[in-house]
Amino acid sequence: MINMETTMSNTTYQYQLNPNLEQIDWSNVRSLFQKVAWKHRIAEEIALAFKNSTTTIFVYDDDRIIAFGRVVGDGRYYAMLADIVVDPEYQGKGLGKYLVTALNDTLVNYHFVNLSAAPGADRFYKSLGWKKQTTSYIWPQGPKQLRQHCEPE
Ligand SMILES: CC(C)(COP(=O)(O)OP(=O)(O)OC[C@H]1O[C@@H](n2cnc3c(N)ncnc32)[C@H](O)[C@@H]1OP(=O)(O)O)[C@@H](O)C(=O)NCCC(=O)NCCS
Repeated sequence: MINMETTMSNTTYQYQLNPNLEQIDWSNVRSLFQKVAWKHRIAEEIALAFKNSTTTIFVYDDDRIIAFGRVVGDGRYYAMLADIVVDPEYQGKGLGKYLVTALNDTLVNYHFVNLSAAPGADRFYKSLGWKKQTTSYIWPQGPKQLRQHCEPE
């Protein structure tokens, strides 16, 4: 585990890369998901998903988690960034960029690094240099996903 500090917009934040996930306050994580309107997540399932991830990162204001993200991968060839979330009260200060960059920096020599952008996050990833992948496919998990993530037939 790495306990570090980062400063942006004149504010210093503590962050942890790959912390001991037994010590994470998952109800804090769940309420952050709710704050950004990803409401259907359950604390126990969130904990399991993070524990099955290759890399996790959490940013704190005092003891409170205010941003997090993770990488799901095989540790060598394929990796996907997931659940990049910043508390709305702290958005627009560079924390999202920080999360994505810090996670990406752990993925040296991978063959594929990708992500599925949430609706509305397109310009965020483009501003960080991410490219639209023309060759990716999705098996839609329901009509909402078909509507939001798929090209028209
Ligand atoms: C998307 C999200 C992570 C961005 O976090 P953030 O801390 O506000 O972003 P940053 O302050 O680091 O912004 C980085 C850059 O992206 C731009 N940006 C941020 N959000 C943006 C948005 N919604 N649309 C367009 N550009 C955006 C910023 O202007 C900034 O550009 P700059 O470096 O040229 O100034 C945050 O809005 C969030 O948690 N949203 C809800 C969850 C979500 O949709 N996550 C994405 C999952 S795939």
